[in-house]
Amino acid sequence: MTVGLGTGTTASLMLRRLGERIRDEGLTFVAVPTSLATAELARELGVELRDIDDVPALDLNIDGADEIDSEFRMIKGRGGALLREKIVACVAKRRVTVVTDDKQVDRLGVGASVPVEVSRMGAKHIERRLQRLGSETELRRNADGLSFVTDGGNLIIDCRFPGIDDPADLDSRLKSVVGVFETGLFIGLCDVLIIGKDDGVERIET
Ligand code: A5P
Repeated sequence: MTVGLGTGTTASLMLRRLGERIRDEGLTFVAVPTSLATAELARELGVELRDIDDVPALDLNIDGADEIDSEFRMIKGRGGALLREKIVACVAKRRVTVVTDDKQVDRLGVGASVPVEVSRMGAKHIERRLQRLGSETELRRNADGLSFVTDGGNLIIDCRFPGIDDPADLDSRLKSVVGVFETGLFIGLCDVLIIGKDDGVERIET
């Protein structure tokens, strides 16, 4: 089986569990990581990795989310891996999203900004154009104050909207800005939702 491995705290927990199963049960699969951090953890756990261009497709992708609504539309990218996460999700035959129930929202964007991955060149101009689409923007920075740089060498501009009525429309408007590589709006990319709750786990086939 070929498995896409997401990024973030939830994906790390899932990956550690897979590592236990490799060790204890001899589980075998090959994996495509969505970030350098996930690749590093996967290697430590003995997971066999592949470059995405060396596999025809992925059987399964497992990842977390920052927010998910009742139509299984998501905001992702708080960990900064949104471009690679979306590329991997798009080539997977079955996409599993794992969240805690506090990530479920009535309306996307009320609590979370939409991360937008942009070119370093012209970033200030791109940011102004994103503002003209109605967002309050903030260039993402590391704790040391320097710009956060993605694994692909790009910047992230976090765009806050006062709630998002039409995520698909917003996604295309954001992507119409030249210099935007990808947005953290993930639509039609969740086939199975697994929700961790205080009293157990709920699984929804979407
Ligand atoms: C990484 O870029 C993100 O898309 C994560 O998948 C998302 O932010 C969920 O992360 P946590 O599991 O850490 O909440």
